[in-house]
Amino acid sequence: MDDLIVLNTTELLNQRLRQNDKKSSVALVPTMGALHDGHLELVKKAVSLAGVVVVSIFVNPIQFNKKEDFENYPRTLDNDISVLKKLGSNIVVFAPNYSEIYPDNYNQINLDLGHLGAVMEGKYRPGHFQGVVNVVKRLLDIVKPKFSVFGLKDYQQIAVIKFMVNYYNLNTEIITCNTYRENSGLALSSRNRKLSNKEKEDALVINETMILLQILSKRFNPIQASRIAQQFFNRSSLKLEYLCIIDPDTLEEIDDWVPGARSCIAAYCGEVRLIDNMELISLDRISEK
Ligand code: PAF
Repeated sequence: MDDLIVLNTTELLNQRLRQNDKKSSVALVPTMGALHDGHLELVKKAVSLAGVVVVSIFVNPIQFNKKEDFENYPRTLDNDISVLKKLGSNIVVFAPNYSEIYPDNYNQINLDLGHLGAVMEGKYRPGHFQGVVNVVKRLLDIVKPKFSVFGLKDYQQIAVIKFMVNYYNLNTEIITCNTYRENSGLALSSRNRKLSNKEKEDALVINETMILLQILSKRFNPIQASRIAQQFFNRSSLKLEYLCIIDPDTLEEIDDWVPGARSCIAAYCGEVRLIDNMELISLDRISEK
């Protein structure tokens, strides 16, 4: 495979993957397009792991709990293709339309995600994770990748996808990449395009609050730390939806520090909903105690 190709149907994608040298493995990077440098890091990781990289670009309507959010989601396919071209050969773009992913005979799955699906994004965006589970399972069934690459910015999404992969016993290894941030600390997101310069500055309070929490974690328990951090956050112009300090595996809110404890934040900056998360306690710090 020498050049980037763009395919719109499952049939063409399968044909292309069948031509693939049996020895070269396939990695999938699922996206909704509007690619930014954070996505490109995921693609670079995938390129380092596999002989063929499928980047799917599909704005999945069933994971949006507000119709206008789906309609306003940025769509920049031509630009996406041109940035991917620069990442070298062996990349296949899979840009299906709705009926390719959800044909008439498609039966939506409704997986019981338990606590993982009930908190944070699950609580504030009802139905969102069922939409994610459906589309990611469809993509995994179509592409059958050895590796699937996701960004840690959507921390809860990764927990849900790992649960789904395990539940259906799917043969793919989930690879995660760190959140890509601007020098200012703002996590890259396709939604940042909707922020004015002033809002981009205001949004830095999210990163600042998580750094404050890292500092607070050395002196206070999670409940006290969270209270102080919320007071700090609420002095900003953003509207906080949740600030949770969670166990990294169960996503339960904690009242004692555990290795890998994370803070997760969702907030509105003007009309734009932003999410972010950060590890607060590394493994070493707990074992030092
Ligand atoms: O993280 C995203 O962009 C989406 O939720 C995903 C995983 C591509 C599914 O539509």
